Amino acid sequence: MSGGDNLDFEIRPNPAPVSDADRSALLANPGFGRIFTDHMVTVRYADGKGWYEPLVAARAPIPMDPASAVLHYAQEIFEGLKAYTLPDGGVAMFRPDANAARFNQSAARMAMPALPVETFLQSLHEIIRVDRDWIPSDPEGSLYLRPFAYASEVFLGVRPATEYLYLVIASPVGPYFSGGVKPVSIWVSPDFTRAAPGGTGAAKCGGNYAAGLSAQAEAAEHGCDQVVYLDAVERKYIDELGGMNVFLVLDDGTLVTPPLTGTILPGITRDSVIKLAQKAGRRVEERPISLDEWREGAASGRVREAFACGTAAVITPIGVIKGESGDFTVGDGGPGEVTMAIRQELVDIQRGRAEDPFGWVHRVL
Ligand code: PLP
Ligand code: COI
Repeated sequence: MSGGDNLDFEIRPNPAPVSDADRSALLANPGFGRIFTDHMVTVRYADGKGWYEPLVAARAPIPMDPASAVLHYAQEIFEGLKAYTLPDGGVAMFRPDANAARFNQSAARMAMPALPVETFLQSLHEIIRVDRDWIPSDPEGSLYLRPFAYASEVFLGVRPATEYLYLVIASPVGPYFSGGVKPVSIWVSPDFTRAAPGGTGAAKCGGNYAAGLSAQAEAAEHGCDQVVYLDAVERKYIDELGGMNVFLVLDDGTLVTPPLTGTILPGITRDSVIKLAQKAGRRVEERPISLDEWREGAASGRVREAFACGTAAVITPIGVIKGESGDFTVGDGGPGEVTMAIRQELVDIQRGRAEDPFGWVHRVL
């Protein structure tokens, strides 16, 4: 391909790829984000020149000057999406165009150059093609794709950099939470907030995750799998988890989820759940949810189920909520019926096992 926004990727196959036997052993129990494929994508950017040198080559360390701007001021963004093996042996990605759009929204917030959507999509096609043998074929597995970009300019002044590097790496993964689909426990962070109005909460930038690590560590100290953040202004309303959006299921079947006001990540799984639920005639409310509403609803039975959703976590039931103002359990603490039905419906579409009413499945091979 050439011309317009399309770049011609040079493909330099890894001269020493992992052997078939070693790869099979790694794929038997990949975990999450621990093992990586043989290749990576790189595309460079410079002001005045645009995006250039699109390359697929052996995955390798990136030489980096210690004064690279990203190491100092964290001008970095990323995405996360999955490729799946289809029943006919083909391969598809789920809504990669939505990730491309969000990548550019994150770029705009972090004063970084937009990457043409075509280049983003093509880069994913290229790595899937060259590393297709790394895509797990088991029913829980997938190839997690991690596109990201950072300020590579060697400069310590504080201003948007003039040079960037875009990369894609790929990681065969199993479930994000080990132990299959079982409810997770979440910790209400009393001290830390994730994002304030006007901040970077809606951007997928590394800094948001760095800022959340203390809260995540605190959650782990309290025996919880994840942290849930309250809003930064009133410390009253649920925002989201460290790496997932949140939904409640009410006793009349209504789904409730916090609105997109700029402080939470506009999750693609969140959007997919909303669209599928509405199509099925289910009521969906995007509105503030206070922790008190959640706690009181769990006690009264008004809140029947709760779940977290995201690319890595798919849809994961939430069982117990712990915090300084007391612990409570949603439903009987087990996976909810509505949660599991929505999960099944979504996963079946993602894996090409069910009709795809919104055209979300993007076949690659
Ligand atoms: N919220 C945060 C903070 C995340 O990191 C993620 C994961 O990407 C999500 C929500 C869910 O987004 P998505 O469904 O697009 O993966
Ligand atoms: C994802 O679901 O893609 C995420 O980014 C969550 C976490 C792994 C950061």
